[in-house]
Amino acid sequence: MRIDVVCPIPHVITSCLETGIVGRARERGLVQIALHNLHDYADNRFGHIDDEPYGGGAGMVIRCEPVFACIERLLAERRYDEVIYLTADGEQFTQAIANKLSLAESLILLAGRYKGVDQRIRDALVTRELSIGDYVLSGGELAAAVVIDAVVRLLPGAMSDAESALDDSFQDGLLAAPVYTRPAVFRGMEVPAVLRSGDHDAIRRWRLEQALQRTRSRRPDLLSRTDTGKAP
Ligand code: ADE
Repeated sequence: MRIDVVCPIPHVITSCLETGIVGRARERGLVQIALHNLHDYADNRFGHIDDEPYGGGAGMVIRCEPVFACIERLLAERRYDEVIYLTADGEQFTQAIANKLSLAESLILLAGRYKGVDQRIRDALVTRELSIGDYVLSGGELAAAVVIDAVVRLLPGAMSDAESALDDSFQDGLLAAPVYTRPAVFRGMEVPAVLRSGDHDAIRRWRLEQALQRTRSRRPDLLSRTDTGKAP
């Protein structure tokens, strides 16, 4: 897989793309990630990539020229499955979307700052718009890093069996069950006996019950959702 990130401040996310599961996936050649600084595509000698909004109002808007120059250059080099714009008014990013994107060959992630990007960029270049939640970030770089992390960890070979994504929250339409490690008793708080019983059927049943209970109390909406195709 190849992911190109087009954004105003790439160094905001370099460390999270160099460490952990994503960093390891890059070292193993499972994913190639290239960061493109929009300032390198500025069409003026000041390196400005933004301008005031037509019609007035607060905040600056990212100009068409640098974004078109950068993305059109990438599109001339290879075919991309999606050009994704990270924006608070986009479609809500979910595990189901992460699963789908993990099957892509090549993705462009466009992250804005300030008031956003000129609408003509969205109309002409962008194929999908994603939000990572109902809050506004000061830039889309962190949202791009979230999408990359959620997608790359699903690539075959990115995680060991021990790190398997299969029992992640959301993967089966449920939140994950609680987990414990040694010691068996810490400050009087005991690990549930069933987890120490060695009875794998009983453990599976307990985990499913806990997952259902957690989902019912914290995210009842998941139990009626159909977009994972797996909710009970
Ligand atoms: N840019 C600013 N806020 C965002 C959000 N919530 N999701 C994705 N991109 C964003």
